[in-house]
Amino acid sequence: MNVLGIESSCDETSSAVISNGILKSNLIASQDFHKKYGGVVPELSSRAHLQIISPLVKDALEQSGVSLENIDVVASTAGPGLIGALLVGLSYAKGLAFSAGKKFIPVNHIEGHIFSGFLMEEKPEFPFLCLVVSGGHTLLLIVKSETEIVKLGTTIDDAAGEAFDKVAKLLGLAYPGGPLIQKYAEQGNPESIKFPVAQVKNPFDFSFSGLKTAVLRFKQKEYGDNGKVPEEDLPDITASFQRAVVKALTGKLIQALQNYEVNSISVVGGVAANLALKNAVNDIGKKFDKKVVIPDIQYCGDNAAMIALRGMQIAQNGIEYSFDYGAYPSLKKGDLRFWKEML
Ligand code: KG4
Ligand code: ZN
Repeated sequence: MNVLGIESSCDETSSAVISNGILKSNLIASQDFHKKYGGVVPELSSRAHLQIISPLVKDALEQSGVSLENIDVVASTAGPGLIGALLVGLSYAKGLAFSAGKKFIPVNHIEGHIFSGFLMEEKPEFPFLCLVVSGGHTLLLIVKSETEIVKLGTTIDDAAGEAFDKVAKLLGLAYPGGPLIQKYAEQGNPESIKFPVAQVKNPFDFSFSGLKTAVLRFKQKEYGDNGKVPEEDLPDITASFQRAVVKALTGKLIQALQNYEVNSISVVGGVAANLALKNAVNDIGKKFDKKVVIPDIQYCGDNAAMIALRGMQIAQNGIEYSFDYGAYPSLKKGDLRFWKEML
C-alpha cells in the first residue's frame, strides 16, 4: 500500500510518502516568520500553506520514487487545528484524491501524534500508555489497538507546550518557547526555585495555569511589574520551571502505571522533544520494566509522516470515508470514532 500524507494544521506544511510500511519521504516547511509576532497568526499561516502546498507535495512524491498513479491512499489532517490552515491541506488532499481516483482518508492530528512511535524501528507494543504533549493538547491515554484509544485524563487549562510558550514569552524569549527554555535550563539549577506542581481532582488530569502564574509572580517580585529578567537569571528560572512541568507529567505517568497493565510507554508531540522529559520517562521505563518509545525529534513536532502512517493504519483496518468529510478546529466527540472515555 502506498500512502501520501499531508499536514497543515498549524505552522508546518508537510508532505510524506509511505510505501509498504516504509517511510520514503517526509518534507517539512516551517513558517518561521511567526516568531516576530510572538505566536502563530492564523491568516498568515493559511496563506503560507497555500503558497507552498503544491510544490511540496510534488517534491515529496518525487523524492519517494512513488508516482501519483501508484499512490493508493491520500491521507490529510482534518483537525484539530487552525481552521484556515486545515482547509488548505484537506481541500488539496480531497481534490488530488478525487481527480486521481484515489482513496481519501481524513486523519485526526492527535491520532497522528499518538501513533508516531510506529515510525521508529522500536515500536510501541499494545496496550501502551501514551502521553500526548503538544502545543495545543495534553492527554494521557491507553492505546489498546489501532482502533481503540481510552482517555484517562487531559489538561483542565493550558497544554504543556502552551505553558512552555507562555512562560517563555513572559521571560522575554521568542516563540516557540520550548526549545529556548530547554537551552537555558541546561545551564541552570532545577532546585533553585520551588515552583508548584498543581493538584487536580481527577487523578489523571493536568493543570499548568497555576505554574505559569507562579512564574509571573516570581518575576514581578524579583524584577518589578514591568521589569526585564536579566539574561544571567534565565538558566535557574527556566530549569526550575521545566522541572515542575516534567514532575507534573511524570507523576501522572507513574500513577497510571501503578493502576493499569501496559506493555510500553510512548511520549509524543512537540514537547516530547524535551530532553529533561525524555530522560525522566526513560528512568520510569527502567524502574517499571517497560519499553519506552519516544519518536525522533523530526516526528515529535508536526509532520506528515505520522499522518501518512495513521492513514495507512485506518485504510488497512478497512475503514472508508467519503469526500464530504470536513475540517474541524477542536477535538469533539463525533470526530473521535476510535476514542473511549474511561472516567
Ligand atoms: O506537536 P507540536 O509541534 O504542535 C502542536 O500540534 O501543537 O508542538 C509544538 C509545541 C510548542 O508549544 C513548543 O514550544 C513545544 O512543542 N516544544 C518543546 C520543545 N520543542 C518543541 N517544549 C519543550 N521542550 C522542547 N525541546
Ligand atoms: Zn501537533
